[in-house]
Amino acid sequence: MSKNIVDEVSGLIKLDWDAAECYDRALEKIETPDMHRTIATFADDHRRHVDRLSEYMVSIGETPPERSKDIKGHLMESYAAIRSATGEVGALKSLHTSEKMTNKEYRKALENENLAEEAHAIIMDHYEDEKRHLMYVEEVLHTKV
Ligand SMILES: [Fe+2]
Ligand SMILES: [Fe+2]
Repeated sequence: MSKNIVDEVSGLIKLDWDAAECYDRALEKIETPDMHRTIATFADDHRRHVDRLSEYMVSIGETPPERSKDIKGHLMESYAAIRSATGEVGALKSLHTSEKMTNKEYRKALENENLAEEAHAIIMDHYEDEKRHLMYVEEVLHTKV
C-alpha cells in the first residue's frame, strides 16, 4: 500500500533537510576547492527541493512539516558517520551512503500511485538532481581511493 500524498511529500521534505545537513557537515571536511564548490551546490539543491516541495504542499492546502533539529530518519546513521569521519575521503564515503539512501527514497516515491501529476513531475525533477549527486560522489571516490 502506497503512502498518501501528504505523507509521501512530507517524508521527502524531511529527507531533503537531512540530506542538506549531511552535506553541510561533509563540507567542513572537504578541502579540495573545486570539490568543495560542487558539493556546496548539492547542499543548495537539497534546500531547493525542500522549498519546492513545501510550496507544493501549501498549494494543495496542506501544511509542510516543521524543521526538526535532530536527524532521525533514513539518514541518521550516515549523518553520524559523516560527523565522526576524519578527512575528506571518510566524509565522502559516508556522503555516498547517504546519497544512495536519498536516491532510493526518491525512486520509491516515484512508484507511489497516489501522487498527483504535479507532485510526480516535481519529484522526477528532483530525482534527476539526486542521480547527478550520486554519480559525482562515486566519480570522486573512484579517483580518490
Ligand atoms: Fe534532494
Ligand atoms: Fe542528493
